[in-house]
Amino acid sequence: MNKLVKPEGAYPAIIGGERVFTAQSIEVIDPATGKAFATVARCGAQEVDLAVAAARRAFSTWRLTTAAERGRLLSRFAQVITQHADELAALESRDTGKPLRQAKVDVAFSVRYFEYYSNMVEAVFGSVIPAATDRFTFTTREAYGVTGHIIPWNYPLGIASRTLAPALAAGNCCVLKPAEQAPLSSVRLAELALEAGFPAGVLNVVPGLGAEAGADLSGHTGIDHVSFTGSVPVGRKIAEAAAGNLIPAALELGGKSPNIVLADADLDVVTPVVASAILQNAGQTCSAGARLLVHRDVHTELVSRLKDIFASTTIGAGNTDPDLGPVISALQHQRVSELVEIGRDEAELIHGGGRPAGAAYEEGYFFEPTLFDHVAPQAAIAQREIFGPVLTVTPFGDLEEAVAIANGTDYGLVAGVWTRNIGRANWMIRELHCGQVMVNTFSNGVELPFGGRKKSGYGVEKGYDALLAFTHVKGAVVMMSKD
Ligand code: NAI
Ligand code: MG
Repeated sequence: MNKLVKPEGAYPAIIGGERVFTAQSIEVIDPATGKAFATVARCGAQEVDLAVAAARRAFSTWRLTTAAERGRLLSRFAQVITQHADELAALESRDTGKPLRQAKVDVAFSVRYFEYYSNMVEAVFGSVIPAATDRFTFTTREAYGVTGHIIPWNYPLGIASRTLAPALAAGNCCVLKPAEQAPLSSVRLAELALEAGFPAGVLNVVPGLGAEAGADLSGHTGIDHVSFTGSVPVGRKIAEAAAGNLIPAALELGGKSPNIVLADADLDVVTPVVASAILQNAGQTCSAGARLLVHRDVHTELVSRLKDIFASTTIGAGNTDPDLGPVISALQHQRVSELVEIGRDEAELIHGGGRPAGAAYEEGYFFEPTLFDHVAPQAAIAQREIFGPVLTVTPFGDLEEAVAIANGTDYGLVAGVWTRNIGRANWMIRELHCGQVMVNTFSNGVELPFGGRKKSGYGVEKGYDALLAFTHVKGAVVMMSKD
């Protein structure tokens, strides 16, 4: 490992409480210009080894801290993040391209994760089990030990916090591998954790490439649990690596989530939420509302209203705080473009369809808000995760048809249901094959368990369940005696 002197604009790895600059680095790109504005450490097997070893050393004392102590530290961390909110939001906006106000929401979510688990941590306990009367039979919950976390570039700070907060609260020591496209907020998060008083080695960050640091971490024999958020093919690799070491994996692999609008829904409420469910973060959201399924009685009206919103959406660099920023990379722009080209032959293009016109949009990875109508349920654009600002609209006739279309993809992450009929809402909640259903809203918060079915992955994040998921149960039985 090379602890080189910090070059200008260079972000290190954080290993065992130290800033570590590697011999090689990765250029960090601003998606609004396509140009590098910083560099980050490029960790490999050696740095991952050191990070896992540092986490293991830290665990020997961290595991003996009380829940109350960990809760206080998490709470202090939430305060330190709050103190750096403006800096973190600006950094996240620059690195990911997302509009500044959306980055501010991400910072607020980050704070909320640490606050929530700081409150929750003392509610983790085992049970006393009625069994034979000559012995005492009980369970405790223990941390796994060293947990690996591999996260994507769409909500770096939000997803890092979502996975780290319950893991740390439960008493694990963590090694985080951020995505090479947007690694900077993860590095700052680990620096702020040290400032908040976390002992060295409790939270380590090893920036690097997926095939290098990512593969090294997920296959490392020194980790006890691995969490991953990202694509289906890489999720499969992570599961294979975890199987090789016989450790548990939690996989959050995105989706093709529907917003289902019934004929009685209040379109004044529906329209802006359906639009933001796909335009937020340029559609690069695991739980994006990517498919609009709408009852044919309100179909024409809703599409016309959505077209107006899409047409008035402002587009620009994240730090100018437009409605819509660029997508993350040239590769992502190409992926979105290719699917949209397929869509032109499959459905009716109502708005958008490519790079916006104008000199301001030539260099960055900008893509217009794009609306396709009359999309057949089996069309490629209705089946594949586009991960761009592209909404498909499919009309339906009755609830059974709506549910069949909603459930008819490989994914099953979330669903939105819009109706004023409570019975129908409850019927839909039961019938939808996904991890989370939102009725007359498309926001969920940190308290509600979140996790997919089918190719959206397995395992649970958020809520009390995520905290328990970072522990395992130990059973104990103790014989009684009088002497
Ligand atoms: P990806 O799955 O390649 O990247 C996610 C993370 O995995 C990054 O940290 C990356 O460095 C790491 N990684 C890549 N290869 C790895 C390997 N062999 N071993 C261990 N870690 C590895 O996602 P990518 O290519 O950036 O995006 C492709 C598509 O994936 C998107 O178009 C979207 O459909 C989906 N995606 C879903 C996300 C979600 O929130 N569920 C987030 C990002 C992407
Ligand atoms: Mg970037």
